[in-house]
Amino acid sequence: MTLSIEGRTALVTGANRGLGRAFVDGLLARGARRIYAGTRGDAPWSDPRVVPLTLDITDAAQVQDAVARCPDVDLLVNNAGILRLDPLVGAADDSAARQAMEVNYFGTLRMCRAFAPVLAANGGGALVNVLSIASWVAPPASGGYGASKAAAWSMTNAVRVELREQGTLVVAVHAGFIDTDMVTRVRAPKASPSDVVAQVLDGVAQGAEEVLVDDESRATKAALPRDLEELYPRLQQVWDARRRGPRS
Ligand SMILES: NC(=O)c1ccc[n+]([C@@H]2O[C@H](COP(=O)([O-])OP(=O)(O)OC[C@H]3O[C@@H](n4cnc5c(N)ncnc54)[C@H](OP(=O)(O)O)[C@@H]3O)[C@@H](O)[C@H]2O)c1
Repeated sequence: MTLSIEGRTALVTGANRGLGRAFVDGLLARGARRIYAGTRGDAPWSDPRVVPLTLDITDAAQVQDAVARCPDVDLLVNNAGILRLDPLVGAADDSAARQAMEVNYFGTLRMCRAFAPVLAANGGGALVNVLSIASWVAPPASGGYGASKAAAWSMTNAVRVELREQGTLVVAVHAGFIDTDMVTRVRAPKASPSDVVAQVLDGVAQGAEEVLVDDESRATKAALPRDLEELYPRLQQVWDARRRGPRS
């Protein structure tokens, strides 16, 4: 199943900054007819093809309102997400872990459920879920984020099976670091948001069910059968070094 971007009507969640904003720009550049830009605040666009939409994906009423206001969507990009730096055991309470699940898992699932009938009514279309390498390798410093992305990966795979009959292409996007506000404190190679978007839109156009945007995501997926031997020793070293603190 292939899906040209030109002439599509897209809805992007978390569209006001970071990767979401790059999705809006990329969709405009590829000739999308209309883009509903979901935001919780300011809407920084002047292009008439961009229609701002107040949308907090944890708010069931706002999601239902979005369905009513966007009946022509045939490309849903579930991009909105949060990351809080909190370990699982060492956190003061479980609020970060719950919040990550609320947004990254339940919010994304809410959008999939709400817009599946809209996509069906518009010929099937495509649904893109922005996941992470944290779906596969759990970051100890932000354990709730990893758990929520693992849950969202599992959900994406199940939703793909459910929606195949209605002709919806369900695309999982996995990335290492992307150069956005979410990881400003990280000092490591980061993909540019526009490059990630280009790969995702190419993937959608080619009917890809999974887009691995960088070496990190490709290597991580390839290492899954040996994750405890290959992926976790490096994480353990970083974690142990952080616990020891700077040497005097
Ligand atoms: N950056 C990375 O290294 C990286 C790597 C892999 C995957 N990802 C994933 O990429 C996606 C985009 O992240 P980003 O890097 O662009 O992060 P970002 O710069 O922090 O932007 C996050 C976006 O999500 C929105 N958002 C947060 N909670 C929301 C909610 N409840 N309802 C609606 N919108 C909400 C934010 O809106 P406000 O402006 O209102 O807060 C913002 O627009 C996320 O799913 C993230 O997990 C990021």
